[in-house]
Amino acid sequence: MAETLSIKDNRSGKTYEVSIEHGAIKAIDLRQIKVSDDDLGLMSYDPAFMNTASCKSSITYIDGDKGILRYRGYPIEQLAEQSTSFMEVAFLILHGELPTDQQRSDWRQKIRYHTLVHENIKKLMGGFRYDAHPMGMFISTIAALSTFYPEAKEVENRDNRWKQIHRLIAKVPTIAAFAYRHSKGLQYNNPSNDLTYAGNFLNMMFKLGDTPYDVHPTLERALTILFILHADHEQNCSTSAMRGVGSSHVDPYSAVAAAAAALWGPLHGGANEAVLRMLDEIGSVDKVPSFIDSCKGGKGRLMGFGHRVYKNYDPRATVIKKLAHDVFNVTGTNPKLDIALALERIALEDDYFVKRKLYPNVDFYSGLIYQAMGFATDFFPVLFAIPRTVGWLAQWNEHMQDKEQKIARPRQLYLGPSPRDWVPMEKRK
Ligand code: CMC
Repeated sequence: MAETLSIKDNRSGKTYEVSIEHGAIKAIDLRQIKVSDDDLGLMSYDPAFMNTASCKSSITYIDGDKGILRYRGYPIEQLAEQSTSFMEVAFLILHGELPTDQQRSDWRQKIRYHTLVHENIKKLMGGFRYDAHPMGMFISTIAALSTFYPEAKEVENRDNRWKQIHRLIAKVPTIAAFAYRHSKGLQYNNPSNDLTYAGNFLNMMFKLGDTPYDVHPTLERALTILFILHADHEQNCSTSAMRGVGSSHVDPYSAVAAAAAALWGPLHGGANEAVLRMLDEIGSVDKVPSFIDSCKGGKGRLMGFGHRVYKNYDPRATVIKKLAHDVFNVTGTNPKLDIALALERIALEDDYFVKRKLYPNVDFYSGLIYQAMGFATDFFPVLFAIPRTVGWLAQWNEHMQDKEQKIARPRQLYLGPSPRDWVPMEKRK
């Protein structure tokens, strides 16, 4: 069977043969389809990239209809259940294979070496207003790191790229925790390299004064699982931002800041914060039906529901829903859980949501756990950004090695005015 597509252009009557590879045609192959010599050639029009593969990738696989998510071939459920450390999954995502014992300890060492930040970073963060949104602080501080590591601009140097990858993975929890401490007017806790990635982060967040902070093993494990679930998700909005911005060969700090900015929006990683605000607004289970009706009537969306790719239950939401019970056993149940469960029950039976294949996504239950663990609502997007930094960097590193990639530069369909002459002020209408 020929792996080609025959296209007949009814404008000219000509037929073209276009190759099919990996179930896709190359959009650039359409350019040969012209009606005249000065015609630029046929383009594909795809607002929001609904059906455009922007890269070849070997990192993450999603089957949205079946609700499947895999990192480097490993099912997300197995990684969440079996992998005891986030560092192991980070290694897998970045290097392509699960680490051996030796590789894992070398990798941990490489990351731990970079967990501290320059003292001037603390001063920079101290300059934000007392009520600054922690995600705004996070994005700006990550961007500022580029000025501390000017050598990071050498993005074509492999070793240099890896050094920045280690630095970023090591420093994002530190910067995130400092953003939280700033909002509370608390002194910054420096990283403790004898703790796990999640344990160190919790310690930097919640340790008070010189009193040792005992990280609860169930909460540490829960956060590790949440980090694993959020680590990568192929070509979503923030990852596309990372690749797109990185394609200009800017340093990775600037590109990660851009990716984090994309993540902050309520349609993406800001949805976990929006879900909690929505549950607060609903207030009680008896208000759920009228809230669902208002969503169906176009007055806002049911936050934490729906996904561009998943047209089935988001597999991450399944893991998180189970995890919530472990966390609530330690922290006590989040009273908003009943509202969330009622929303889910009604939405999953309602024709509006069923027809549109709208199911709970990763953000629907994560906020309830974060809140029970003591994280402030506006901190939730930061909790998403910490592990996703691993995915952004893996995708960026892959992008930098891909010989087919160039600076990202989409085309447009120009629908504006035809050429016209400048009009003097007195003649303008
Ligand atoms: N509540 C109510 N209606 C919805 C929702 C929702 N959450 N999501 C989609 N719809 C409706 C939408 O109004 C449209 O209806 P119609 O066909 O009558 O115009 C239809 O479903 C298709 O929606 P769409 O906007 O074309 O779908 P999309 O693929 O562009 O959007 C989405 C995906 C995630 C942005 C969207 O489902 C949404 O806004 N969900 C709420 C925000 C959210 O939870 N985001 C987190 C996504 S998962 C984690 C992450 O990516 O960070």
